[in-house]
Amino acid sequence: MSSQIDNLLTENRRFAPSADFAAAAVAGPDLYERAQEDREGFWAAQSRELLHWQEPFTQVLDWSTPPFAKWFADGELNIAYNCLDRHVEAGNGDRVALLWEGEPGDERRVTYAELTEEVKRLANVLTELGIGEGDRVALYLPMIPEAIASMLAVARIGAIHSVVFGGFSADSLRSRIDDAGAKLVITADGGWRKGKVSPLKPAVDQALSDRGDGVQSTVEHVLVVRRGENDVAWTEGRDLWWHDVVPAASPEHEARAFPAENPLFILYTSGTTGKPKGILHTSGGYLTQAAYTHRNVFDLKPETDVYWCTADIGWITGHSYVAYGPLANGATQVLYEGTPEHPEPGRWWDIIEKYGVTIFYTAPTAIRGFMKQGRVIPQARDLSSLRVLGSVGEPINPEAWVWYRDVIGAGTTPIVDTWWQTETGAIMISALPGVTETKPGSAQVALPGISIDVVDEQGSHVGAGGGGLLVITEPWPSMLRGIWGDPERYKETYWDKFGSQGWYFAGDGARLDEDGDIWLLGRVDDVMNVSGHRLSTAEIESSLVAHEATAEAAVVGASDETTGQAVVAFVILKESYLKQHGPDGLAQQLRGWVGEQIGPIARPRDVYIVGELPKTRSGKIMRRLLRDVAEGREVGDTTTLADTAVMSVISAQVR
Ligand code: PRX
Repeated sequence: MSSQIDNLLTENRRFAPSADFAAAAVAGPDLYERAQEDREGFWAAQSRELLHWQEPFTQVLDWSTPPFAKWFADGELNIAYNCLDRHVEAGNGDRVALLWEGEPGDERRVTYAELTEEVKRLANVLTELGIGEGDRVALYLPMIPEAIASMLAVARIGAIHSVVFGGFSADSLRSRIDDAGAKLVITADGGWRKGKVSPLKPAVDQALSDRGDGVQSTVEHVLVVRRGENDVAWTEGRDLWWHDVVPAASPEHEARAFPAENPLFILYTSGTTGKPKGILHTSGGYLTQAAYTHRNVFDLKPETDVYWCTADIGWITGHSYVAYGPLANGATQVLYEGTPEHPEPGRWWDIIEKYGVTIFYTAPTAIRGFMKQGRVIPQARDLSSLRVLGSVGEPINPEAWVWYRDVIGAGTTPIVDTWWQTETGAIMISALPGVTETKPGSAQVALPGISIDVVDEQGSHVGAGGGGLLVITEPWPSMLRGIWGDPERYKETYWDKFGSQGWYFAGDGARLDEDGDIWLLGRVDDVMNVSGHRLSTAEIESSLVAHEATAEAAVVGASDETTGQAVVAFVILKESYLKQHGPDGLAQQLRGWVGEQIGPIARPRDVYIVGELPKTRSGKIMRRLLRDVAEGREVGDTTTLADTAVMSVISAQVR
C-alpha cells in the first residue's frame, strides 16, 4: 500500500474554483469561521434555518452519557412535514419533486403537492394497519416514487423504517426483518433491471414463510405496489395491493410533532462479524445535517437545479441524498429505476441530457466503468447542463477524478469527493464547491462543524505526510445513535479503541498531506468495499462454510480495477465430500451459492480451492498473505505462521 500512497501524495494537479462559480456559490469561507467560533451554536443556527421545528429546541448537544449523544433533544418536529408540506405551504406545491424514469422508458413527474398527498394517504393506511410510533416497517422496493413515499409516510407517523436493498436475498431480508421485529413489509411485485422484471414479492414470501422452527414472524401485513406486473402468490388477509388501499384512503393527515431524538430509521450494514449491524438514526440531528450538507456540498439552488444521485435507497446514500436531504431542501431530482447500461451504455448520459441535470452524484466504480467504455459514449450527448459533480463510497483514484471532470464535467465543473459512512449519516469530509481548491484523489477537509483527525495507534496526531487512522473527535448531529438492540456492540465497535479520548473510530486508514488535506486509504478492518458496497469477510465466510462441501473458508478483498475491491475466497473442502463428488465445477457452484445466500453483490470474483490456510500459532488466519496471493504479488513476511511452508503450497494451488 505504501507505494500507492506515495503515488497519491505526489499528485500535484490543483483546480481553483472559477470566480463566477465562487461569486454565486451557496457556501462561503465564512462557514468555517462561524463553525470554528462556536461549533454548537453553528449547528443550532443551521438547524433553525434549514428546518421547521414545531416545538423549538433550547438544548443543542447533550453528551453527558457518551457515546450516546442527543441533539436538539427538547425540540419537536415532523420529518415528513419538513420534506413535503412546508414546501407546499410556501407556494411551491407545483415544483417537481421527482422526475422519475423507469428502466423501460416510462416516466412520471411527481410534484411536491402530489407527493405530499400520496404520503398523507399512505400515512392513513399505515395507521389503519395498526402501525404506530416506534413500530418497524421493512421496505423492499425498486427505485420508484412509492419507495420515497413509503419512507416519508413511515417517518410521518413516527414509525421506523428499515430499507432492505432489493438485490439482497430472501435470507438476508428475513434476518433484517427478524432483527428489527418489523410489523409490516412494503414491497412490489417486481422492478425492472437489465431489461427484464426482477421479482421482489417471492423473496418476501420466502422470508416470511415458516422455517419449521415454530417461530412466528412478527410481520402482520405485506403492502404490495404493482410495478413489474409479474405474477405473484397471494396470502389472503396478510397481503394488500397498494392500488386498492392507498388511493381509497383520506388525503387529510396532520403531521404530528415528534421529539428530535425519535428514531427515524434502521439501516443494516456489514461489520467485522458475520451479523449485519442495524445502524440506528434519529430525527432532528439527522435531518439537519442531511439538509445542510446537501445544500452546501452540492451548491444546491432549489429553484433552478436538477439534481441526480444515482444511489439506490437501499444504501445510506439513497437515504440522505435521494430521500431526506433533497426533499428537505425542496429540490427537484431525477429518480431512475434501472441499470446504467440498459438498453445501452449511454443511458445515464441520455438521462442527464433529457432532464438537464445540473448536479450529479455517483460512485467511483461507475466512473471507472464508464472510463473503460471510452469517452465517445458520453461525448455523443449534451452534458453541458452539469455544473457540480460528486463522488462517494470509496476512494476515487486521481485518473478517474480527472476523467470525470474532463469528460463528464467539460473540464470546468468542481468535483466534490465526499467521505462518510452509514454510521455518520451524512457527509463529513468534502471540498466545498466555489470555496475549496480541489485536488484529485483527496477528499480534502472536514466540513464546517465537523471535527476530524488522523492519529496513530496510540492516538497521537500524525503530522504532515503521516499516515494513520481516521477519527471523529467531536459528536456530530447525524451520528448514529446506536446499533439496534445491541448497545454493547455499538460501544465496542466505534468507541473502545480511542475510549479515553472519547473519539469515534471510523475503521478507515488515512493520510494527511503537506496542506493538511485528508487522503482516504480504505478500511483497516475486515470490511471490504466492492463497487462502493460494504461487505464483511466474516459474513461471506459463514455463507461459504454453510455449504455442504466446505470445511473452512477465508475471504479477502483484493484490489480490482473496476470495482475497487473484489471478493476472493480460499476454500478447504471436506474430505468426505471430495471422496463422493470430486472438486469439479465446485468453485463456480460456491460463487453462485454466496450470491443466493446473501445477494449477487456478495458473489466472489474468484473461489480458490486450497489444501490449507495460513494461520498463526494461535490459529488466526493471516488474510494479509492471502491478499498478496489474490493480488498476484509476492507473498509478504510469513515468519509468524505456524507452518511457514503453507504459503508456497497455496500459491502453487492458485496458479
Ligand atoms: O471506507 C470508507 C468508504 O466507505 C465506507 C462506508 O461505507 P458505507 O457505510 O456503505 O457508506 C458508503 C456511502 C457513504 C467508509 O468507511 N468510503 C465512503 N466514501 C468514501 C470512502 N472512501 C474513500 N473516499 C470516499 N469518498
